[in-house]
Amino acid sequence: MITSIRGQNLLTLEGMSEGALLEVLDTAESFVEVNRRTIKKVPALKGRVVASIFFEESTRTRLSFETAAKRLSADVLSLAVASSSVKKGESLRDTTATIDALGIDAVVMRHQSSGAALQVSRYVPHVRVINAGDGLHQHPTQGLLDAFTIRQVLSERKGSSGVESGLEMFKGLRVLIVGDIRHSRVARSDIWAYATLGCDVRVAAPGTLLPANIETWPVTVVSNFDEALEWADVVGLLRLQRERGSGSFVPSLEEFTQTFGLTLARAKRLGPSTIIMHPGPMNRGVEIDSKVADQVNAVITRQVANGVPVRMAVLYLALAGVREGGAS
Ligand code: CP
Repeated sequence: MITSIRGQNLLTLEGMSEGALLEVLDTAESFVEVNRRTIKKVPALKGRVVASIFFEESTRTRLSFETAAKRLSADVLSLAVASSSVKKGESLRDTTATIDALGIDAVVMRHQSSGAALQVSRYVPHVRVINAGDGLHQHPTQGLLDAFTIRQVLSERKGSSGVESGLEMFKGLRVLIVGDIRHSRVARSDIWAYATLGCDVRVAAPGTLLPANIETWPVTVVSNFDEALEWADVVGLLRLQRERGSGSFVPSLEEFTQTFGLTLARAKRLGPSTIIMHPGPMNRGVEIDSKVADQVNAVITRQVANGVPVRMAVLYLALAGVREGGAS
């Protein structure tokens, strides 16, 4: 059980305690105000060096991590993998050792292989490793920012001046996750975060897009997607991960949209307060109708915005108590 990420790596949300999740959410809340200032900077990580290494494409995660590090006054080393010596065949181990030799405190890493972030953490045990997405395994900061966004929206609706620090917002909250569960590291992180926080989590997908071990996950597989839409307080859409071959797991995109897409007709089944989420990038017209994605109860750009305070919190906590020259 991971009881705090203070001074620790962040590799997965599976096995993270309620308290550890809430510590990140509450710390992120304190950074929201920094992001509203004219000068969006605090000296918390001044003199620290954060390396950003993305072996896979990213827009949201990479930009928000680098923004987060800069707003904490850290120096950022950003490796453009496509034009790096990785293309000459340099191994992950040697790439890591090379970046470490430049003097880094943390590395934010995305990689196409499940377990790559754990591997890097073994190569450089004195550096804090933050998993920004590894293969089909985990995307922990996406799970954290999704939970943060839900709590923020529900808190605003309740009209409280601040965000409740406890678990009340999540207890019994009905969350439906729809789409390519099989290939989604976002689903794997979201599900563990939501379930640990007390939500009732259900998934809807074609049988071919469910993982073989779904019965070991803390979720219920729904048989009637349309009924589940009426049940849900939160609906999270996932895109078909065609780069991981998911196109061949459905007869056609049109059929997937007809059976599991959040079309305009299906969106009418949702309650007026149902929160619609998507981690991005979206395939408009496939898993979500373009007009539905722009509805007021769709919080997709808010999820992106919340990536910055949540990733500030993760970097701040992971480097907290880590003294010069190694982990505390
Ligand atoms: N949600 C997400 O991980 O988006 P990017 O691939 O653009 O980082």
